[in-house]
Amino acid sequence: MSKFIPYTKPSISDDDIHSVVESLRSSWIKSGPVVSSFESSFTDWIGGAYSITFNSATAGFDILLKTLGIKKGKEIITPSLTWPSFVGLLCLSGITPVFVDINPDTFQLDVTQVEQLITPRTVGIVPLHYAGQCYDIEPLQEICKTYGLYLIEDAAHAIGSEYQSIKVGNHGNISIFSMNAIKNITSGEGGIITTPDSLLSHKLKRARSQGIDRDSFKCHGVRASRYDVKAPGWNATLTDFQAALASSQLKRIDILQKSREKIAKIYLSYLPDIPGITIQKAEAFNTRNSWHIFPVLIDTNYFKFTRDQFREELMNKNIGTGLHFIPVHLLTYYKSKLCLKTNHLKHTEEIGDRIISLPLFPDMSIQDAYYVIDAIESIAKGKKQTIFDLNAKEF
Ligand SMILES: Cc1ncc(COP(=O)(O)O)c(C=O)c1O
Repeated sequence: MSKFIPYTKPSISDDDIHSVVESLRSSWIKSGPVVSSFESSFTDWIGGAYSITFNSATAGFDILLKTLGIKKGKEIITPSLTWPSFVGLLCLSGITPVFVDINPDTFQLDVTQVEQLITPRTVGIVPLHYAGQCYDIEPLQEICKTYGLYLIEDAAHAIGSEYQSIKVGNHGNISIFSMNAIKNITSGEGGIITTPDSLLSHKLKRARSQGIDRDSFKCHGVRASRYDVKAPGWNATLTDFQAALASSQLKRIDILQKSREKIAKIYLSYLPDIPGITIQKAEAFNTRNSWHIFPVLIDTNYFKFTRDQFREELMNKNIGTGLHFIPVHLLTYYKSKLCLKTNHLKHTEEIGDRIISLPLFPDMSIQDAYYVIDAIESIAKGKKQTIFDLNAKEF
């Protein structure tokens, strides 16, 4: 194939562009009415929880930690097979990340190992809905209830995921979604926290806007009024033109989701039969996967080369792959900072060595998916790549 298939790509429609242009042409482009309206739409779509936007999920998490009053010397339990941003913020705040190993089949944090990591300093758990499949929420909620801990979900991958037929973000926890460029809906950069707690929602809104108690639109807009600060804050709001993009994307989330599902379904039909490839195991409570990414494990013994060499082989065939993730505790800064015992995160390290994310994005064609499968099969079987029979299975 002469064209390159990236592992991911944002889907931007003419309606999205129109929506952003309309916002730019209005007299208000910083955070204002479009942000408020997007937050209401997200709340309706999620099914009830308050929604508070930020200029990134990372900024939202930082503000949340301070708003909840989580201080230096405390501990938070989280997996290491994740993006380093939240762990970085813990370290910056003097909070110790305590890593829990993952289940080698589902790649989610291993709930059975959480309790033994709880100490008097533990204040919360930050699990990740890895790849858009859910971790088992209920047992973790039980643990948090028993020990009085916060359950703060890293839902960066989980816009559209459902656990027991309820959307992630509406299970009574605090959930943090990302809307960066490659997420299931995007505002370029952006994040959303959902919570059932109206007081927390109010505090977060105030904290993201320099501590000012009213919407900046009302403070500085046409009917500017007096303002007051009852607690200092950040400047971490989404702009109206970013929210215009997010609103337009949210309107077609079902279409975006179905496109992802179509590609995932093709992968699920063929990849399990290819030697040396293992897919992520789904659990019955996962009633809908957002298919944010499609991770597979490479059997390096079978292939007789490393995961990175496997990625190179695919790159030679014009196929890009993602790396989700290099375990955080193996990154230079954290290796020296956290002084972890070796073998403590056995499955995380093993999976982190073998995992790649295959191309999956809404505008990907069925032909592209077949091409990827065919390329993997040709590497697996050491055979010449053929033109895949597009009629082999119907989708
Ligand atoms: C698992 C995970 N958590 C957190 C983040 C941070 O999100 P943001 O880029 O919106 O700050 C990302 C971003 O890719 C992520 O993948």
